Amino acid sequence: MSSRLDVPTFVARWQRSTLTERSAAQQHFLDLCAVLGQPTPAASDPDGTHYTFEKGARKTSGAGGWADVWLRRHFAWEYKGKHKDLKAAYRQIQQYREDLENPPLLVVCDLNRFEVHTNFTNTVKAVYAFDLADLARNEPTPTCALPPLEVLRAVFTSPDLLRPNRTTASVTEDAAREFAALAESLRRRGEDPEATAHFLMRLLFCLFAEDIDLLPAGLFTRLVAASVASPGDFGLRLRELFARMATGGFFGEHKIPYFNGGLFADDTTLALAAGDVAILARAAALDWASIEPVIFGTLFERSLDPTKRSQLGAHYTSRDDILLIMEPVLMAPLRRRWAAVQEEARILIGRRDAASDRGTRTRHQQALARLLLAFTDEIAAMRILDPACGSGNFLYVALKRLLDLWKEVSAFAATSGVAGLLPDAVGPQQLYGIEVNVYAHELASVVVWIGYIQWLHDNGFGIPDTPILKPLHNIQRLDALLTRDETGCPVEPAWPEADVIVGNPPFLGGNKIRQELGSAYVDDLFRLYQGRVPAFSDLVCYWFERARALITTGKVKRVGLLATNSIRGGANRRVLERIKETGDIFWAESDRPWILNGANVRVSMVGFDAGAEVAHQLDDQPVASINPDLTTTAALTTARRLTENGGICFMGPSPKAPFDIPAAVARTMLGAPVNVNGRPNSDVVRPVASAVDLVGRPRGEWTIDFGQMSLEQAALYEMPFAYVKEHVHPVRMEERKAQYAGNWWQYARPRVEMRAALQGKARYIATPGVSKHRIFVWVAPVVLCNQGTLVVARDDDYFFGVLQSTLHASPVDWLRIRSICVGKISGVETCVAGVAPTISGPFSCQGKQDGCVTEVMTRRATLHELWALRMGTALEDRPRYTPTSTFETFPFPWLPRREPAGDLRMDAIAVAARALVEQRDRWLNPEGATEADLRARTLTALYNARPTWLDLEHRRLDDAVLDAYGWPRDLDDEEILSRLLALNLERAGTLDPRMVPGVVRL
Ligand SMILES: C[S@@+](CC[C@H](N)C(=O)[O-])C[C@H]1O[C@@H](n2cnc3c(N)ncnc32)[C@H](O)[C@@H]1O
Repeated sequence: MSSRLDVPTFVARWQRSTLTERSAAQQHFLDLCAVLGQPTPAASDPDGTHYTFEKGARKTSGAGGWADVWLRRHFAWEYKGKHKDLKAAYRQIQQYREDLENPPLLVVCDLNRFEVHTNFTNTVKAVYAFDLADLARNEPTPTCALPPLEVLRAVFTSPDLLRPNRTTASVTEDAAREFAALAESLRRRGEDPEATAHFLMRLLFCLFAEDIDLLPAGLFTRLVAASVASPGDFGLRLRELFARMATGGFFGEHKIPYFNGGLFADDTTLALAAGDVAILARAAALDWASIEPVIFGTLFERSLDPTKRSQLGAHYTSRDDILLIMEPVLMAPLRRRWAAVQEEARILIGRRDAASDRGTRTRHQQALARLLLAFTDEIAAMRILDPACGSGNFLYVALKRLLDLWKEVSAFAATSGVAGLLPDAVGPQQLYGIEVNVYAHELASVVVWIGYIQWLHDNGFGIPDTPILKPLHNIQRLDALLTRDETGCPVEPAWPEADVIVGNPPFLGGNKIRQELGSAYVDDLFRLYQGRVPAFSDLVCYWFERARALITTGKVKRVGLLATNSIRGGANRRVLERIKETGDIFWAESDRPWILNGANVRVSMVGFDAGAEVAHQLDDQPVASINPDLTTTAALTTARRLTENGGICFMGPSPKAPFDIPAAVARTMLGAPVNVNGRPNSDVVRPVASAVDLVGRPRGEWTIDFGQMSLEQAALYEMPFAYVKEHVHPVRMEERKAQYAGNWWQYARPRVEMRAALQGKARYIATPGVSKHRIFVWVAPVVLCNQGTLVVARDDDYFFGVLQSTLHASPVDWLRIRSICVGKISGVETCVAGVAPTISGPFSCQGKQDGCVTEVMTRRATLHELWALRMGTALEDRPRYTPTSTFETFPFPWLPRREPAGDLRMDAIAVAARALVEQRDRWLNPEGATEADLRARTLTALYNARPTWLDLEHRRLDDAVLDAYGWPRDLDDEEILSRLLALNLERAGTLDPRMVPGVVRL
């Protein structure tokens, strides 16, 4: 805490001061802390992470910071020297506010005068402005609604006290209400609705222009106030003002900038009665700088269009709703590009800053400037079309998003020492619209322009060059579906060229089209789109089909349209099927609530392209693919082999000759004296396990395994070598085995890599290559698992647990998922019919024979088994597990060999896996069991019977594994597969990681 200073001393000291900004600013701030009893940045936050001088200063280039002082979630503060331009200081801080985490208050100060600007989202802006003299008096003034000391205290301790009560939405609603009253009054007096709409839009623009400093402050308000008593004069003065706005020039002593000849092309005004001028005076008192373009377009359209007046008070589409579709369709590719550009830029910055000579530095600096400029050119080149744009709300949101991204690039450039990115590169000229409604059409351009100018103003980029309203012919008044050629024949109208199409075209059920649009129009429409859109589809389907067709020409890259949710079924779905035939759906919200013309409806949102997008997302979840009915089935065929999974799972060695020996022979060899090389035969005589041994009772077979020994080395093991020479050599010499004749004493495929991977392992994991149940078991290193098995070179319980994990499921899911025949043929363990992995409902065993007991048991597959079932092939309906397509594609919770040792989630899996194995082992070999009992106790039998305790153990393991992925425990099969696939693609580098939720990061 700084030592206290009283207000009069502070005021006197700083009124006297003639210090310049640089030397004075920090002392001024420290003194202020002392006055307010607030800690200084250094005292409160020595690391400068939340409270600091010079926030964002780039040490390397020596460039200034984004703010002179910054306190997280409180303020950003910019100082200027005495009597310097505070507007410029405010503009600077507006430009960097995102980099400053958008604090709620932006303060500018010239050592004498303070301006505290509120920066809360969704509320109107307020400014508390006072100087040192005001601070000494500490009374509210016309420019500061609260005592200055109270304002300063709130800046440091509770910014929320300065939050304006009014939301931008409520100001916009009030403004629309006043204009609706004015429109109604003019209409009652018989004015033409279209002329009224045009006139009111000009008034609206004047009100906005005045509050955003495009017109001299208070000019329009004074004009209105002066006319309340003499409304007749108002028209005359207004006409003069409109004329000046059309060309630029003087209005009285005021200089009026050149707006343009579009909105103000003619100076026609309508006569206003005293009551009308009074309404206008009330409207002028509102804060027009804060009106929300997304809302006002809709509300003003309702107030101007006689057919829509009944909807005036009804709800409207919010910006957040529109962003739902705008982000994945328009912004996602740009954001990906930006991430890549930033990466490249950082490399260049590093090289530039490390360069020892000027030439190299300049070269990197120029390359950096070119890179950033080229990316802003990409943003500025993006053309967006809304082919049913209404009053332009989607177009405005698109523009705002592009401008926000441009600003991010520009801030990055400035702090990297690159100047010269121009704000007017991105602008309304990139937006294209089609709209039939006269009122909506006229409003759309005004919405876009007001939104654009407001953005420039709010972000500290001043006002556009003159003419302020550039001619904008991009928004056409046109029927987007059907027009007529010179001969009167119906034809499809050309849509403006664009890169991205977005919008919410009108919905009109197939059975209402004729009634609403008239028979002649509908007959032409059906004929024109015959074979492409089924007759009686919802009207919205025509926009989908037209957008699809434009994608196939290669002109349009991505489309995002809203539709009634009935687009998922019936005749409507045909357009989505066609989209899938010629391209792909990459994003969809299948069923969401929406407000349409004030009514609650349910909609689907669909993003589609020519098939270039690799990331697919349905209802906020990453999925492998999206079907035309907006459901998903994971397209697992796209899964890739993951390098990090390599070198762990192997096929067991393949002998291709009789290396196996009965137990009695093995015993003799093992009992023989050591060989001439001083080694026992146990070096090469090993128990062998095939698939049946892993899941049945071990048969007690042995094998002779010389591994990769040379002939000379092998021959030193006398008895085993003699056996191999007698039994194996002749077989290998057979013509068809000639390829293995060379090293005839070795297994045909000895699996060199497997042996290397198993070196030093205390145990390893094995599973049958083909098996009804995907069961993993521990195997001792002495045992050789042969070609019917898969060997996993890991000896830890965690890894075993993931492989053996099962899904947790609700009873309903349990039944729904999969039916497995567990028919048994007496005395034979393996069912002939085996597994029918995807059937559900009644199932009869195809291999039914006498004594075969068929039952249908339903259970869920194991998590890894789920993957294995879909990824592997099948042999006689029994799933096959392969090292490549099954194991190497499976994305483990952590990259194999890079697991976070000591992680509690790993431990949880290991504990559950150990418990499962212990219980299985106890069941397999219970104390006191007879030989006959033991014969029936096999893992296959256990998993056929699947007692409750086994399910419970698997569920415990399953929960632990799902936790490790960070996924909910109640996912269904498709969701799990989709997520596993998404994770696989992400690891393989073909999917944007941000599209994978809840994935454990490494
Ligand atoms: C659901 S609104 C969407 C407008 C705006 N995005 C909104 O949210 O308010 C559909 C718009 O399509 C327009 N429209 C209807 N039929 C059209 C056609 N054949 N050609 C062009 N626009 C049409 C309507 O006038 C309406 O403004």
